[in-house]
Amino acid sequence: MTNSNSLRKQFLDFFEKRGHKIVRSSSLIPTDPSVLFTTAGMQQFKPYFLGEKSPYGRDVASCQKCIRTSDIESVGDATHLTFFEMLGNFSFGGYFKKEAILYAWEFLTKELSLPEDPLWITYFKGERSIPQDSESKRIWREIGVPDTKIYGFSRKENFWGPTGIEGPCGPTTEIHFDLTKKPCQKGKDCIPNCECKRFVEVWNLVFNEYYQDPQKNLKPLTQKGVDTGMGLERLLAIVNQRTDLFETDLFWPIILEIEKETGKKYQGSKTSFRIIADHIKAGAFLIAEGIYPSKEERGYIVRRLLRRSQRFARQIGLSEAGLLKLVPKIIEIYKETYPELEKKLEEIMTVMQNEFEKFAKTIERGTKEFEKLAKLSKNIIEGEKAFYLYESFGFPLELIEEMAREKGIKVDKSGFFSAQKRHKEVSRKGAQRKFGGVGIEMLEAEADKEKVTKLHTATHLLHQALREVLGEGVRQMGSDISPERLRFDFSWPSKLSEEEIRKVEEIVNQKIKEDLPVTKKKMSFEEAQKIGALAFFKEKYPERVSVYFIGDFSKEICAGPHVERTGFLGKFKIIKEESAGAGIRRIKAKLE
Ligand code: ALA
Repeated sequence: MTNSNSLRKQFLDFFEKRGHKIVRSSSLIPTDPSVLFTTAGMQQFKPYFLGEKSPYGRDVASCQKCIRTSDIESVGDATHLTFFEMLGNFSFGGYFKKEAILYAWEFLTKELSLPEDPLWITYFKGERSIPQDSESKRIWREIGVPDTKIYGFSRKENFWGPTGIEGPCGPTTEIHFDLTKKPCQKGKDCIPNCECKRFVEVWNLVFNEYYQDPQKNLKPLTQKGVDTGMGLERLLAIVNQRTDLFETDLFWPIILEIEKETGKKYQGSKTSFRIIADHIKAGAFLIAEGIYPSKEERGYIVRRLLRRSQRFARQIGLSEAGLLKLVPKIIEIYKETYPELEKKLEEIMTVMQNEFEKFAKTIERGTKEFEKLAKLSKNIIEGEKAFYLYESFGFPLELIEEMAREKGIKVDKSGFFSAQKRHKEVSRKGAQRKFGGVGIEMLEAEADKEKVTKLHTATHLLHQALREVLGEGVRQMGSDISPERLRFDFSWPSKLSEEEIRKVEEIVNQKIKEDLPVTKKKMSFEEAQKIGALAFFKEKYPERVSVYFIGDFSKEICAGPHVERTGFLGKFKIIKEESAGAGIRRIKAKLE
């Protein structure tokens, strides 16, 4: 068996030897604000395709962590994944079609010694004003690929990009692998892209010749570029003559652990095993990058992944504790390539456990509720009812839809969204007595506003004091402020000793006594991170953020408001220290 580490290295070495600079994988969270996640190797190089000078030189290669969320619900078969790695070579205004095609062919057939016979080719046959890519076709023929294995397709299949709302894009030529060598009932028409799954796309070579603007107009690019992408997991399976991506060393240790925990065999429950293995892996990588489960955007994707895996885990008798045991297995697989993952082991486990515990409280009752609703509804679950499952039992909408699909019924999605909108309106009004970072303007009484503002500043002091006493492992996990008290949740594995509590109080009171000025500065989120401003990672931050400085004691990204000097606060007192879930402590404190 070829293992993933050596295959990854073989690819990068191949291109390094051919004059490419090897660039590390960038984050799963792209700098391009119009894109939720990094979905392709080219994402971090997007500006260089548009003429900006590449700091890495003209030709580069990488192995990029990617997340594709468009088909979370398709994960469960042999080939769909949400987290995967993309191998790619790129050229920004250097080599073009001929070299890119020759490199790809040489790598597969010479370097990896794959047989030529199962390799089929597709190219762009032209559509409306975009001409066909006859050059690629000619090059493939020159290499010796027979015409019977070269097929032209239209824009849908053989034109790629841009990512986000604008950017480089162009025609593609793809290499597909014939898994079975047996045509389906379509006979001669069974060619790459046939739905029968005989072929799997291995390598996509994109020739960036155009720029697409936000109105979807195409303009020719002055500098042409090469962007290629090949899924490591697929390649690994092919090299090892497997058709199931999960039967490779990138998944197998996870599968074995599930077998061990459940006493069940992969063979009998492949769908659940695959969903669990993929989703926990993707969840681990995302949490390691500071994306915690939440109701919004990226955090919501993490929630969907974890809750979907939790549901399937229950179906094969895998407990939440069993799910958590997969995390060290995942880290073992990737620690050489992505050391950042290993560093975050504890954080990943804590966040997952916390999320699992939340859903564990409601999943059973929610499932029963769902069963009732499904029985009562003819063939569609009303939006209002689906929203009830979402709001009261924490079922992501997509999970409800999937459960409904399993029963052959549908969910009224637009009804769901109107119910959600109505609910938001009601809770906005109800939020008048609470404060957790936004919405102080909703407090009616001036006196309450003042109390909450003070407690807010005290929260920053507390956060920093905890870090001084306990260490940098302390991270904010939640905050809630009412006029009477502050409540602060943070990551910490054990109960605080009396001594520790006393020290924290002492530091906060000392800082109050010093009457430190509280000042605000606007800066980019990146800058804020650079200067080490604390951030609450459950929050999604805008491009520009406010950082509050308390003397030189504390700096934290925050929307405010705060008092002008700490001297206004009075005496700080911790009234309670308790657990708020595994690995999370909660402090309640007041100002006297
Ligand atoms: N950027 C191209 C893809 O993602 C290579 O398929």
